[in-house]
Amino acid sequence: MTLLSFCIFLSCLLFDSSAKTNDRPIIGVLAQEVYSPKPNQSSYIAASYVKFLESAGARVVPVMINQTLEEYKTLFNSINGILYPGGGVSIISSGYERAAKIFYDLAIEANKRGDYFPVWGTCLGFEQLAYLTSGESLLSHTNTSGVALPLTFTNEAKGSRMFKGFPAELMKDLSSEPLTENSHKWSLAVLTYNTNEQLKKFYKVLSTNTDGDTEFVSTVEAYDYPIYGTQWHPEKNAFEWTRPYIPHSPSAIRTTFYMADFFVSEARKNFHRFESEEDESKALIYNHSPVYTGMQSAFEQIYYF
Ligand SMILES: *[C@@H]1O[C@H](CO)[C@@H](O)[C@H](O)[C@H]1NC(C)=O
Ligand SMILES: *[C@@H]1O[C@H](CO)[C@@H](O)[C@H](O)[C@H]1NC(C)=O
Ligand SMILES: *[C@@H]1O[C@H](CO)[C@@H](O)[C@H](O)[C@H]1NC(C)=O
Repeated sequence: MTLLSFCIFLSCLLFDSSAKTNDRPIIGVLAQEVYSPKPNQSSYIAASYVKFLESAGARVVPVMINQTLEEYKTLFNSINGILYPGGGVSIISSGYERAAKIFYDLAIEANKRGDYFPVWGTCLGFEQLAYLTSGESLLSHTNTSGVALPLTFTNEAKGSRMFKGFPAELMKDLSSEPLTENSHKWSLAVLTYNTNEQLKKFYKVLSTNTDGDTEFVSTVEAYDYPIYGTQWHPEKNAFEWTRPYIPHSPSAIRTTFYMADFFVSEARKNFHRFESEEDESKALIYNHSPVYTGMQSAFEQIYYF
């Protein structure tokens, strides 16, 4: 009798845990306008963001700019998370900003209903999230255009969703070695964060950095939503080689992997899916080929649309 109920209990547990994980996560990566458009090259995604997510077991769908609200809503219900990459477009007015706002609003709504939909912003994407949350442009100029830095973790980092699964040794390396690559001229100053009620109540600061003058926020997670941002570039360590300041040490590569694994594990928590296998196949990034651009760009490979 005891054994039987134990077995029932166990099978419930097993059933329950498998029911909670989506083992076919698909994540959207947002495109953005190219600086100087050419025929068939009006928007792009750097391939390193795609590889970053693929390395942790997700498939990728490009989220094109300039789509209708209806198209974005359909896509939102088809994918399991979205990543806003770094780049150089306006966070106040661009195709990137418009799509980012639509998905951000849909994610907030969905998460309020218990539909767990994660959003990640890297560099420009982080700045975009700060703008969307605060409704204001609050960035300060910093001298951080090409420098790898160690993270200064806050007390909140250890218990955070993002970092709690990281090995202690990697946390130690992250805090003592320059493993996080910064390529930005604008930053969210800690002082600005501390005096902005919207940002303060929405985001928990997990790490900060300084350029010597201005202390800035470098990693955040939202308190009540699976929304994450890094001012630095977790994807570059493993996948970009064009700049001498991109770190490639074993701990740098593990940083890429653990960040990717974390975000993909967040995307496994909902079961959004395409209406049909055909719709899914047509949407996947596999329909596009990256171009080798390492000779003239900061990115080794780029998808153009
Ligand atoms: C642009 O793409 C279309 C459709 O893929 C193709 O037919 C055309 O040749 C391309 N144009 C250029 C300039 O590459
Ligand atoms: C997006 O729309 C804007 C404004 O209509 C246009 O200038 C731009 O070329 C479009 N870009 C793409 C990639 O479709
Ligand atoms: C900017 O930072 C670099 C080090 O990353 C330093 O060499 C340079 O002098 C700084 N420039 C200014 C204007 O502070």
